[in-house]
Amino acid sequence: MTTPSHTARPRPGSSPALQAWVDEIAERARSRLGTGRVADYIPALADQDPERFGLALCTNDGNLYTAGDAGMPFSIQSLSKVLLLSLALRTHGDVLWRRVGLNPSGMPFNSLMQLETEGGKPRNPFINAGAIVVADHLVSAFATPSKHLQDIARTLSGNPRVLIDHEVLGSEWRHRARNAAAAYLMKAFGNLDNEVDEVLETYFACCALRMSCRDLAVALNYLAADGRALTTGERFVPPAMAQRINALMFTSGMYDAAGDFAYRVGLPAKSGVGGGIVAIVPGQMSICAWSPALDASGNSVAAQYALERVAEGLGRWSP
Ligand code: DON
Repeated sequence: MTTPSHTARPRPGSSPALQAWVDEIAERARSRLGTGRVADYIPALADQDPERFGLALCTNDGNLYTAGDAGMPFSIQSLSKVLLLSLALRTHGDVLWRRVGLNPSGMPFNSLMQLETEGGKPRNPFINAGAIVVADHLVSAFATPSKHLQDIARTLSGNPRVLIDHEVLGSEWRHRARNAAAAYLMKAFGNLDNEVDEVLETYFACCALRMSCRDLAVALNYLAADGRALTTGERFVPPAMAQRINALMFTSGMYDAAGDFAYRVGLPAKSGVGGGIVAIVPGQMSICAWSPALDASGNSVAAQYALERVAEGLGRWSP
């Protein structure tokens, strides 16, 4: 990214009423703590404190409203799939869709069933197999793709301390059997150009980025702002691309619970097994809620609850 043409530096929100609303939602969401289970299939995530809860809301003019543990970094996991997809589309454009589909899978995010019967083409870029194909594109395009993604996450969030957590990366690598199975199956179908190990390491490194609710709400604000990054003022992706990424988040961002979430919240959103969920209100704001305990589909219980409350109240804050 080059010199900014226009910037709206994120700053503490100027509306006391909006801040009070965010505080109230965070308070109510605390009633959901104690429900759900922290992800333990990646051992390095198992010791996360299930009592943590953070909420950050970033308006398109740079006002930032936060509550609870909004400044605490956590493992972004599948939230990285939004950044991976944005970068791959910026770099390769629509050719990506020859190798990854655009439809909800209706299956758990790490399922292998459809891959075998559908010729090694993952249903969408937000299930693990889909993100592994996206990572393969980036391995072909960049010398150090995960470092490149880390730099992008730093620039978009305005936080130079965003880091890849090597403990989480190592833990995912040691417990990679299912992702490796998906990657080898796709390789066998001719849908991976690079070596499986290299692609998996890139994919895991991106999942292992640590960012806070605040970092994520700021970084992904471009999806609410026609592709324009808040911290640089530049277009990170063209407006039509931002719209399409939002559409994919709406249909596939919450794994096999995408329909339930769309019905209850009605916003494009992406979830990760670290407990984070980012939701987008196009033209208005980006929101990140985080709490580590997950439901059976892998979505944070308290974060979903908070986003439902945000969606209920949005009409009050619309321009
Ligand atoms: O590959 C995994 O299982 C994790 N690194 C990411 C899983 C996750 O957050 C949900 N995925 N769509």
